[in-house]
Amino acid sequence: MTRTIRKIAIMTGGGDAPGLNAVIRAAVITALGQGWECYGIRDSYDGLLEPQRYPQGGVIRMTRETVRGITHLGGTILGTTNKGNPFKYPLPGPNGQLELTDRSNELLDAFKRLEIDALIAIAGDGGLFIAYGLSQKGLVVMGVPKTIDNDLAETAMTFGFNTAVAFATDCIDRLHATAHAHSRVMVVEVMGRHAGWIALEAGVAGTADVILVPEIPYDLEQVVAKIRARQAEGHHFAIVVVAEGARPKNGEASVQATDIAGGERLGGIGEKVAADLQARGYETRSVVLGHLLRGGTPTAFDRLISLRFGAAAVRGLAAGQRNVMVALDPPVVRYVPLAAATRQLKFVPLNGDTVQTARELGVCLGD
Ligand code: F6P
Repeated sequence: MTRTIRKIAIMTGGGDAPGLNAVIRAAVITALGQGWECYGIRDSYDGLLEPQRYPQGGVIRMTRETVRGITHLGGTILGTTNKGNPFKYPLPGPNGQLELTDRSNELLDAFKRLEIDALIAIAGDGGLFIAYGLSQKGLVVMGVPKTIDNDLAETAMTFGFNTAVAFATDCIDRLHATAHAHSRVMVVEVMGRHAGWIALEAGVAGTADVILVPEIPYDLEQVVAKIRARQAEGHHFAIVVVAEGARPKNGEASVQATDIAGGERLGGIGEKVAADLQARGYETRSVVLGHLLRGGTPTAFDRLISLRFGAAAVRGLAAGQRNVMVALDPPVVRYVPLAAATRQLKFVPLNGDTVQTARELGVCLGD
């Protein structure tokens, strides 16, 4: 028999995404409606693992007041980190160097002390994998799929993605004007890690001429051929959208840094493509949208799915759903096992209709 829920905790993990606060608000109000007590953990799990860092408490009692007026706000009122994996927590070792330490039991003890019956983990693939690990050790978990990258399996979409695509599309529109005015090639690099969702969708919506995604290693000659063909038609500018995880055929992705847990920070491929095109005689400028894609107000679409996810997370727990993730399966929200959602990433399908549309519209995908 499943234990009755009286107290829940909420955490936000990994990179922030527009819509986090809307999820928190919906989850808290729905939980209070169930008569449950609700707590927010600061900075992923750090509020529980490093309470000394929080003079006002690492855990916040969530009330109607704490979530008032936050639906439209970017960021997360709880704070977040992508360095707080409780299974591989970086702590200074005897010689002062950081060592990865398993603090999962310590964390589970903290949940027990607070008598938390279930955790709502609002996170991307890394954070949900951690939550799945905690569920395997006995914690009741409900996941909510967050990431601008849209690379989580088992959900049609993650929240935050739509806002990132809308912003990137607006930026591409702006770049058209300046590219046209100067007869230049403008290269724009967007986030997305090893998946090309943001680049593809914003690139098609913004009518880019070239879109380079990690799923299709690119051949520079094809990019040059596309720019040359445009010039032959009298169009002396071009827009090239590059996903941060894109890589040339027979080449590697551009990694800026690797953290102690082996996590890679991608970036720099836009600059490389721009330099290569400049070397081929095209006046080229590049711009990196980077973290601008994560900030700002969530779109109406993201606010709505975030609110639906937050409410469904609590509704599911109340109905006995355990160790699952809420998932968008239009027109409904359903529950999928955390194990399935975290098994693999969701990449752009090369036979999907968006890729096909891009090709039919004459967009060069670098192959
Ligand atoms: O996963 C979200 C994301 O914004 C990726 O698109 C990007 O590669 C990464 O996070 C950047 O992380 P950080 O905030 O650590 O620079």
